[in-house]
Amino acid sequence: MMQIANDWSFSSPETALTLPSRYFFDPEVFQAERDRIFMSSWHLIGHKSELSEPGQFIVCDVFDQSVVATRGRDGTVHAFHNVCQHRGNRLVNERRGTTKGVFRCSYHSWCYGLDGSLRSAPRSERMVDFKKENYGIPPVRVEEFAGFLFFNLDPKAPSMQDTFPGAEATMIERFPDAQDVRLVGEKDFLVPANWKVIMDNNIEGYHFELSGPVHTVLANLISFEGYKLTPHERWWTYTAPANMAAEQAYSVPLDDEAKQSNPRFFNIVLWPHNTFYRFPFSNFLGTFLIIPTGAEESIIRVGYYVAGEKIPAVTEASIKWMSEELGPEDISLNITTQKGLRSLGYKQGRYMIDAERSNMSEHLVHHFHTLVYNAIRG
Ligand code: FES
Ligand SMILES: [Fe+2]
Repeated sequence: MMQIANDWSFSSPETALTLPSRYFFDPEVFQAERDRIFMSSWHLIGHKSELSEPGQFIVCDVFDQSVVATRGRDGTVHAFHNVCQHRGNRLVNERRGTTKGVFRCSYHSWCYGLDGSLRSAPRSERMVDFKKENYGIPPVRVEEFAGFLFFNLDPKAPSMQDTFPGAEATMIERFPDAQDVRLVGEKDFLVPANWKVIMDNNIEGYHFELSGPVHTVLANLISFEGYKLTPHERWWTYTAPANMAAEQAYSVPLDDEAKQSNPRFFNIVLWPHNTFYRFPFSNFLGTFLIIPTGAEESIIRVGYYVAGEKIPAVTEASIKWMSEELGPEDISLNITTQKGLRSLGYKQGRYMIDAERSNMSEHLVHHFHTLVYNAIRG
């Protein structure tokens, strides 16, 4: 078999050329990423509060796979493949919901319990040698990390603690309310761009002051010289203190309370595609999940989580601003980048990495590409 990944020299970040453009549209690369990255990585389900009652469920899709996560009567969170064990019909077709106790297949009414075990199958009592316990749905691993739930399709994958050493403590430090938040909004954006184009854009500060007008608004809310991008092996952060001289944020005037509530911009990425963040002067805990759906198409799923009953005006405005202004401005850059990567006039560029690893340096992009390259090279 031809080696899928063998043509990138990455050892010295300061002089390396970027990952060759075909990695962003080649179907073979995409297939290798599916098999060698996503089928054994940790995927965000949601916050544990989204499954607070027995029977509440969430359906999560990744590539061609679909998983149901639900809370059992005993309080345990279960996850299992979203497929009926009779003739393979997809079992649950809603994104979220609450079942009274069983999941019923819409085809021939086989019914499964909250743990995926087969409860009943019409006419099965007439069958020879039909044992319900042989037709339970294969389970999927679930772990809780900083109040959020994740699944992994690989039964042998290392735990989240082993995959992301130190990350949970960092999340709890930066999101002290992580255990107490609840979902207040969710939105999917279908983006015609490779998932790495979206992550690359996410993890560099170079374009902040140099691209569109909405980015300038965010750049004005943070103390940009203090922006630090820090790689760890399979997770990384980028964070900056807020600009305390700002008088308004997201078109809302800032009073002292708003200024003190969260004087920081903070982002953490858990490889390969889960981001958690908080905007300056805003209280929502944001999730930003990139779900690859094709070599040149992805879904960005943003979630907004808040602790407490009342949502402060600045937080409310920042949620709207993310969904309606900053998100779309970045997405238009993702779309034009994807188009450019297809050009016969482009193969590789240059990472703008400086020795100080400053706020504008693209060293996290290089770090991320190295992880991808090593993973698909096998
Ligand atoms: S395929 Fe589900 S009951 Fe037949
Ligand atoms: Fe951006």
